[in-house]
Amino acid sequence: MAKPKAVFVCQSCGAQTPKWMGRCPACGEWNTLVEELVEAPFAGAASENAAFAPAEPIAYKDIKETRNPRVRVGMEEFNKVLGGGVVMGSLVLIGGEPGIGKSTLLLQVSRDFAGQGATVLYVSGEESLEQIKLRGDRLGAAGDGLFLLAETGLERILAQAERLRPQALVVDSVQTVHSDKLSSAPGTISQVREVANQVFRYAKRNGVPAFLIGHITKEGSLAGPKSLEHMVDVVLLFEGERDHSHRVLRALKNRFGPVSELAIFEMTSVGLQPIPDPSAFFLKERPLNEPGSVVTVTIKGSRPLLIEIQSLVSSTLFAGNPRRMSVGLDHFRTAMLLAVVEKKLGYSFAGEDIYLNVAGGVTIEEPAADLGIVLSVVSGLKNRPAPPGLAAFGEVGLSGEVRSVGQAAARVREAAALGFETVVLPQGNLAGLEKEGRPDIRLVGVPSVQKAVDLVL
Ligand code: TYD
Ligand code: MG
Repeated sequence: MAKPKAVFVCQSCGAQTPKWMGRCPACGEWNTLVEELVEAPFAGAASENAAFAPAEPIAYKDIKETRNPRVRVGMEEFNKVLGGGVVMGSLVLIGGEPGIGKSTLLLQVSRDFAGQGATVLYVSGEESLEQIKLRGDRLGAAGDGLFLLAETGLERILAQAERLRPQALVVDSVQTVHSDKLSSAPGTISQVREVANQVFRYAKRNGVPAFLIGHITKEGSLAGPKSLEHMVDVVLLFEGERDHSHRVLRALKNRFGPVSELAIFEMTSVGLQPIPDPSAFFLKERPLNEPGSVVTVTIKGSRPLLIEIQSLVSSTLFAGNPRRMSVGLDHFRTAMLLAVVEKKLGYSFAGEDIYLNVAGGVTIEEPAADLGIVLSVVSGLKNRPAPPGLAAFGEVGLSGEVRSVGQAAARVREAAALGFETVVLPQGNLAGLEKEGRPDIRLVGVPSVQKAVDLVL
């Protein structure tokens, strides 16, 4: 047998070097190289591969179209993110920070599957069966079809799965499970890849969906599920702030559907509950008639979301170097918008600290929120509230012009549905909207931020 060779593998990017180094030459991260043993490829590998690749090329026109059969889980929001249900034989990776609720989500999904009469195997390498049952009882898991297994050996897990023949397999988490084929520690890059690879093969061979849970740290991806993204069919990201109760589930990659969908859940004492009306959820604690508070309409996934932008302007203690802080917004974009307010609207805030916040712990990446941000800052500066029934959206350019944005009709519809009376929006979007005719809400098109400020404040 060939002698195993040692290599040093970067746990951040997966690069390999023959020698230990303090810093990864590929990604520049410090202290990420870990020694791992690479075994000589085992004899079975070639024949195992053969089962997946067609033996010879086939003309495109001769390939039969197969509709990937999907199964829907009880939670409609979860189906939506997957593109309309989970595809049989697919491998889904669910990444998120520790404690965000990945195990809870997957246990709920398993519960729903089992409730539909399917057999589900939930494997945990992190918690004891009693712990999982305790959680399951809270979530109302009952059904006969749900099987739990506390095990970390990959080969033993797959052997049990072959015996039980479940209709869905959950592995919690990819970092705690290890394969006997490799001698490196669980959680190292080569181990998580091997685990993902074998579970992938299991799913394809048996035509059942498999879910892998992966921990991601705040900084990104130590020993990361990132390195698995290309191997799996679907990558879902479960995000949220620990101190907020809402969680956002979205697809980063989906071989069977769009990646734009996202679902919002609330973590409650009985598990994750889908929030059917996120706009109302995020606006429910909005202070009315408060300077600095302006509602904007942003698009999250394919749905519009009304969200409150707040700003606080106060005289600075740091003369010459006032603070510009923003939470939930892009810092560079915010700095640019502040410059526009200063230059084009003629406000001077050299002596003021400016704090901007997106309420509810949401992040906004879209330029369509620009107009809302500008109005919020000016409202804070002038200490004058915007009318409570007003929402605003539009991209702001460096000359202070308000540019049209996509999906304006959907944004207006959402604002109307939540009882808003007026929407301030780009002039350029107005023409398209007026054709639709919308008597239940007043639309005000503005060409520039100057015009918007004059109208609103
Ligand atoms: P968990 O699913 O264990 O997170 P992860 O698997 O991502 O590490 O859930 C973690 C948190 O969720 C934990 O702090 C407790 C909370 N939680 C609830 O608030 N309600 C519930 O019904 C459950 C099951 C958990
Ligand atoms: Mg967990």
